[in-house]
Amino acid sequence: MKRWIGPLAGFIACGLLVPGASAQSKGEVVVYCSVLNEWCLAASQAFERKTGVKVILNVKGSGEVGAQLRAEASNPRADVWWGGTGDPHLAAAEADLTVAYKPAALGELHPWAVKQWEQSGGKTIGIYAGVLGFTWNTELIASKKLQAPKCWADLTRAEFRDEIQMSNPSSSGTAYTALATLIQVMGEDKAFGYLKGLHRNISQYTRSGPAPVRNAARAETMIGIIFLHDAVAEANEGFPLATAAPCEGTGYEIGSMSLVKGGRNPDNAKLWYEWSLSAEAQSLAKENKSFQVPSNRSAAAHPKAPRLEDIKLVDYDFAKYGSSEERKRIVSRWEQEVGMLPK
Ligand code: G6P
Repeated sequence: MKRWIGPLAGFIACGLLVPGASAQSKGEVVVYCSVLNEWCLAASQAFERKTGVKVILNVKGSGEVGAQLRAEASNPRADVWWGGTGDPHLAAAEADLTVAYKPAALGELHPWAVKQWEQSGGKTIGIYAGVLGFTWNTELIASKKLQAPKCWADLTRAEFRDEIQMSNPSSSGTAYTALATLIQVMGEDKAFGYLKGLHRNISQYTRSGPAPVRNAARAETMIGIIFLHDAVAEANEGFPLATAAPCEGTGYEIGSMSLVKGGRNPDNAKLWYEWSLSAEAQSLAKENKSFQVPSNRSAAAHPKAPRLEDIKLVDYDFAKYGSSEERKRIVSRWEQEVGMLPK
């Protein structure tokens, strides 16, 4: 799985070119990929088969790619940033690190995916949606005779001391979505008070967003704050995981895609962009442990994919929480007031 098999060393060239379509003739495209490793690889291989364009993959969390694009601004190495939570894509758009593009498939997408595109002046677009929540290891919780958490408030119970994992908001879009969600549910000062209480129960802030799912599946943590679809997919593989959407309301991501400004392969980047919005490409997700809601209305989601309409969602303010300034302010407040706290 993405980042669950440890950090991938540098770039991976997929190298599954169709016979007769050489890298020389069709060229390459450099994709910074922020979804699960399985899906990154499957999408790259399908794209190579379809187009003959060689894909150079670099798999990293959303916060990490955002920082990397800023660091590489004067000498961009990527062509496309594919997947990961939408907030850092919006921040990259605002920082002029990505370029506007109008895809042919715009009319085939759900309104939330188009809104992301409109909001960014055409610089980023929704490719999937996913809801934030909790997962827990059903065997561990039963063996300790504890009640499963159903609400944000439950996670600060004393019996969950050191039993919870979440990711780190500076590297992970999942954790940033959690911070922004809590602020929207409780108000900022209360949310930070809550996060300090939660800190006592956190055993580890992982680098990647989906890592707590893997760790809960393998009984290395009892509870994880995660995107529900990752846990549902892992439970579908037979792991003892259950999930809940917090009773107070929760936030969600519009997983996004952006074209990198100054990328060396702009035509191939557009090929990828168009292809990955197609129903055919998006239907690959469900076979690769990715149970998000696809943005193309005709793409098939996994039957167990959590449905946005079944969950109490906050009216997530993407414009506010996608602004670089707000992002910087919230993450550094978290680092100073929460992340650095002793336990
Ligand atoms: C997983 C989820 C995606 C999400 C991504 C964020 O891959 O399936 O829906 O966008 O994690 O990863 P991050 O490490 O940035 O939290």
